Amino acid sequence: MTQNNRSQWDAGRFLKTLTYFEVIPFLNCLQQLLTGNTSNKKTSQSGVTNMGMILVAGATGGVGKRVVQRLLNHNYSVRALVRDAQRGREMLGDQVELFEADISIPETLTPQLMENISAVVCCTGVRVQPVEGDTPNREKYYQGIKFYLPEVVDSPEIVEYQGIKNLVQAAANSLTKADEKLLFNFINTGNRQLSNALKSDNLKAIWGAVDDVVMGGVSESYVQLLDNAMLFTGNVSTANSGGFVSVRTRNFEPELNLTGYEGIELRVKGDGQRYKFILRNEAKWDGVAYCYSFDTEKDNWINIRIPFANLIGVFRAKTLRDAQPFDPSKVNALQLMLSKFEYDGALNPNFQPGVFALQVETIKAYGGSAKPKFIMISSAGVTRPGRPGINLEEEPPAVRMNEQLGGILTWKLRGEDAVRESGIPYTIIRPCALTEESGGKALIFDQGDNIKGKVSREDIAELCLQLLEQPQACNLTFEVKEDSDSDGRLDWKSIFSNLKVDA
Ligand SMILES: NC(=O)c1ccc[n+]([C@@H]2O[C@H](COP(=O)([O-])OP(=O)(O)OC[C@H]3O[C@@H](n4cnc5c(N)ncnc54)[C@H](OP(=O)(O)O)[C@@H]3O)[C@@H](O)[C@H]2O)c1
Repeated sequence: MTQNNRSQWDAGRFLKTLTYFEVIPFLNCLQQLLTGNTSNKKTSQSGVTNMGMILVAGATGGVGKRVVQRLLNHNYSVRALVRDAQRGREMLGDQVELFEADISIPETLTPQLMENISAVVCCTGVRVQPVEGDTPNREKYYQGIKFYLPEVVDSPEIVEYQGIKNLVQAAANSLTKADEKLLFNFINTGNRQLSNALKSDNLKAIWGAVDDVVMGGVSESYVQLLDNAMLFTGNVSTANSGGFVSVRTRNFEPELNLTGYEGIELRVKGDGQRYKFILRNEAKWDGVAYCYSFDTEKDNWINIRIPFANLIGVFRAKTLRDAQPFDPSKVNALQLMLSKFEYDGALNPNFQPGVFALQVETIKAYGGSAKPKFIMISSAGVTRPGRPGINLEEEPPAVRMNEQLGGILTWKLRGEDAVRESGIPYTIIRPCALTEESGGKALIFDQGDNIKGKVSREDIAELCLQLLEQPQACNLTFEVKEDSDSDGRLDWKSIFSNLKVDA
């Protein structure tokens, strides 16, 4: 490279790019030692990629708190609907967003409660206690096996029926839309507490520039957070045989699984140029890229749909005839690019060297098969009060004492009906007696409301977690108890496929 006919190539920036993406791990270690920064450079799915949020109602209850814990352990963002925020914070820790509300008071179920919610797990239940009183930690209620004469504290009609109906109505708007998964949301709703907007230091930890400096060019780009978008901007130059700028995420850890979705939808405002969106199936820095070119409209917000089926497999802008089809189950990284070239040396017809600007509001996966979006914990026995042929002597206390307990099961059934009629893809779990015993048991599922037995709250919480990712579990109502004879892993997919969908 001579100084006369070529612009100065920036070796420092080249190394910076490679170290950011850990292409040169040694330099990264050195940099960490020098700066004292030892933060993990991989992009974890929690906090940095926004996967939508799960609302847990009754989050301070015996099942609810376990559902929250499991969701957090699996990198979900969680909003907890609680009646007492201080108690919620003490019980659930700092990682959850708390929302103080009461399902029996519709005015408290505001649009903010449902903002960005992708599913609701409803673990509420009218408070039941022994007539003689309980310990402060409700040990008598929670143990679930020994009988204490019970009483209800609030009205079952108001909590189990009206409350569920209120919650379903508040959720219906957000949860009946076509199935999509929010990957990045750059919109700042003005309330950081309630928005999924990323903080700018986070943005820089996820998205880094990969410009033609890696090939000897001198273009330069960066990203920054505006109020309601991520801005990808800079200067693209064709000097030194260059001519591209891009921003790419660090590799996701674990890989993103977009199985079941049709493609990616971007909401963008550009400058009239043609950009590329790129996905990668491998963690390799310089591997196969799956590309899609899209035209922007100057100063207009538009939605761009990128079907996975239309992605072109390329290596350094050369199309690969024998590339494997794109595999949505292992998405390692995303990239936005502006290049002088299309593919195989053809020129981008909508390209101008110089300053460019592309704003991105959201990046979503679209066209997913519906998964359960309202999971309700009901109870075994809800259809048994008053059923001909029932021998009350042999029934669990809630069935036997339904009348004395304010019609608790009758109102729970009405609450179930509100969920079934809502139009939201749902699953209704009817557990037998809940215990505080350890989980990990094999479970027995049934339909028709006939089984008796017990099941650990741990296993019900695990079931809720599994249901969120099971399209086969949509619109099912089933009873569940533990199989006291066996522990074991369950084949969730075949269990839910074998249950009958509600008529
Ligand atoms: N116990 C059993 O053997 C058994 C068997 C089968 C099914 N079930 C059902 O399974 C579900 C979960 O049981 P669990 O033992 O986890 O119950 P739990 O510990 O009593 O939890 C119920 C939760 O609902 C909340 N809640 C009650 N009224 C509310 C309202 N108006 N607004 C908002 N939240 C409200 C409570 O909030 P606070 O924390 O503020 O009180 C609590 O967090 C319940 O529906 C229960 O009826 C229980």
